[in-house]
Amino acid sequence: MYACKTPKAVYAGQDALNQLPALLSGVKKAVVFSDRGIEKSGVLDKPLQLMQSAGVEYALLTDLPAEPTYHQAQATVEAFRAAQGEVIVAIGGGSVMDAAKLCSILADGRWSVKDLLDDPSRGRKTVRSVMIPTTAGTGAEATPNAIVAVPEKELKVGIVCEEMIPDAVILDGEMIARLPAHIAASTGVDALCHAVECYTSKKATPFSNLYAMEALKLIIPNIEKACLDPEAIESKNAMLLAAYYAGVAITCSGTTAVHALSYPLGGKYHIPHGVANAMMLMPVMHFNFDCIRAELAQVHDALGQTAAETEADKARWTLERMEEIVRTLKIPTDLKAYGVPAEDLEGLVKAGMDVQRLLVNNKRTVTAEDARKLYLELLA
Ligand SMILES: NC(=O)c1ccc[n+]([C@@H]2O[C@H](COP(=O)([O-])OP(=O)(O)OC[C@H]3O[C@@H](n4cnc5c(N)ncnc54)[C@H](O)[C@@H]3O)[C@@H](O)[C@H]2O)c1
Ligand SMILES: [Zn+2]
Repeated sequence: MYACKTPKAVYAGQDALNQLPALLSGVKKAVVFSDRGIEKSGVLDKPLQLMQSAGVEYALLTDLPAEPTYHQAQATVEAFRAAQGEVIVAIGGGSVMDAAKLCSILADGRWSVKDLLDDPSRGRKTVRSVMIPTTAGTGAEATPNAIVAVPEKELKVGIVCEEMIPDAVILDGEMIARLPAHIAASTGVDALCHAVECYTSKKATPFSNLYAMEALKLIIPNIEKACLDPEAIESKNAMLLAAYYAGVAITCSGTTAVHALSYPLGGKYHIPHGVANAMMLMPVMHFNFDCIRAELAQVHDALGQTAAETEADKARWTLERMEEIVRTLKIPTDLKAYGVPAEDLEGLVKAGMDVQRLLVNNKRTVTAEDARKLYLELLA
């Protein structure tokens, strides 16, 4: 048996944002989640104006830190409860959307974020949520996941609860049109990781394969242009759609060793999620190569490539293309650049091996010795 659980409604394409008033019809007060960076970029102006024109009152929460700890996420839950809105509108990247999703299932005050870390099935949705992503991206607008940092474990931990799947999603290219290139690059590679990991995951299903492959067909030809050319609106729109598809793929399947081993890099050294995944992507893909050759060859074919003939050559083409993407986008992939000392290796290995939830999805078994070698590649 396999299932595909998605948001109830998704609006995408030009002027999709104009759907917001209709989605808030009959609502007196909404709570808008965002952060200071997004506020400064001017991206909030249009959605807030649309709400004002439609007579929807709102409270604006912008004190959300990027990649919050579970304590910071809890402070957001308290602020949300004090604001007393009927609907959640999250306008932001994964950090904002994850905090908003946690609020959607903790609004009644019965449980805390810490309680969900212990048992995520406790969450109950009592407030409707509308997600408007401003990065392309985490796909958090599609998933039942919220990721928080757990400082005492020096890890980031995913809380997975189906009740968090958003009710409505708006994918409007205007929201990412002026995304700074370095954020577009790392968040775009995160979407690439979601798609390729889900496609090569032990948990892959026909549903996740459909979404993951569609995401790869959009990401691989568009990602560099979308990040590096401010005018490449079509490529940016393709990335926004792809990030959503890859989010659905996560919901139906699961990421693998790239995400598992990147969690300690975010949890302990505060390396942004997309950058940490960009670091782990190629070492893990090379490590997995013999176990995922058929899937990587299928990507070559789905992209209409004809250069390679054998399965091995086709798979190598896909691998090299991913390598080229990380290189062209100049995402730092050296741990030392983030001040990580070589002596921290054993701590990283231990924390990475704790992420069994995702490691078990990896087609090639990852032992502690393997994890050590993979981290060493980033420290060399
Ligand atoms: N829930 C999920 O399924 C899921 C999946 C992957 C990652 N995540 C989590 O999402 C978080 C990362 O989210 P992210 O990569 O989207 O980044 P983010 O939300 O942390 O944002 C990164 C920075 O980009 C800025 N920013 C965002 N949109 C902008 C815009 N349009 N213009 C200008 N600046 C903008 C923000 O102000 C912030 O400073 C991590 O905590 C990660 O663990 C969640
Ligand atoms: Zn991710």
